[in-house]
Amino acid sequence: MGIFITLEGIDGSGKTTVSNILKERLMKDGYKITSIKEPTETSLGKLIRKEVLGSGSAELACNTMAALFLFSADRAVHIDEIKEKLKYSDIIICDRFIDSTYAYQAAGLNNSMEDIKLKDFILKVNEFILEQKKFSIDRTYLFDLKPEIALSRLSGRADKIDAFDSLPSVFFKSVRNNYLLLYEKYRNRIKMIDASMSPEDMAENIEADILKILEKN
Ligand code: TYD
Repeated sequence: MGIFITLEGIDGSGKTTVSNILKERLMKDGYKITSIKEPTETSLGKLIRKEVLGSGSAELACNTMAALFLFSADRAVHIDEIKEKLKYSDIIICDRFIDSTYAYQAAGLNNSMEDIKLKDFILKVNEFILEQKKFSIDRTYLFDLKPEIALSRLSGRADKIDAFDSLPSVFFKSVRNNYLLLYEKYRNRIKMIDASMSPEDMAENIEADILKILEKN
């Protein structure tokens, strides 16, 4: 049985680059690695990419309830697949998982009573899915970076444009703050990575931590 690792952070924080380096390093050490991502490659994941994240408008992406249920539906199916994959992988590295749903879907919300309830509901849904599926995350690496730096890294990369990119930078500040809140709440699970470091250094730090987790298993 392998371990399940998730990578989180705002767009432009370097997750994908680091993930590729990390995968190569761990494979060289002889580990069987499976890289996956959310939204998934299934028809539901593709529908989310097209209809929710499509670069036209952020209307659906910012409809908290609609987006929460769509991403969660994709995840519920995904977890069943991940459980199967864990049987023949040493390490599964998943680019985005439950924390993205809180970080992004709660980002447009304010501190009104209704919005506070909605934020709490997102956390509950995330926890409920894991509990129902008897599934847990062994470690989450949160790539933390100032949104200004992340956004400047993304500028000019047309392949990275999605619905959220039409939103003002205050949205990304809120995404980052939501991630930091999750970090405080789930200190045992989430490890913060300073994403201003070089991708090689980040990969090295993460690898060292993963090896420790594997030793304990
Ligand atoms: P990203 O991770 O950058 O994937 P890619 O490199 O394939 O474009 O983009 C996924 C987007 O989906 C990102 O902007 C965050 C968003 N998202 C949510 O809003 N909620 C979620 O639950 C997940 C998994 C992703």
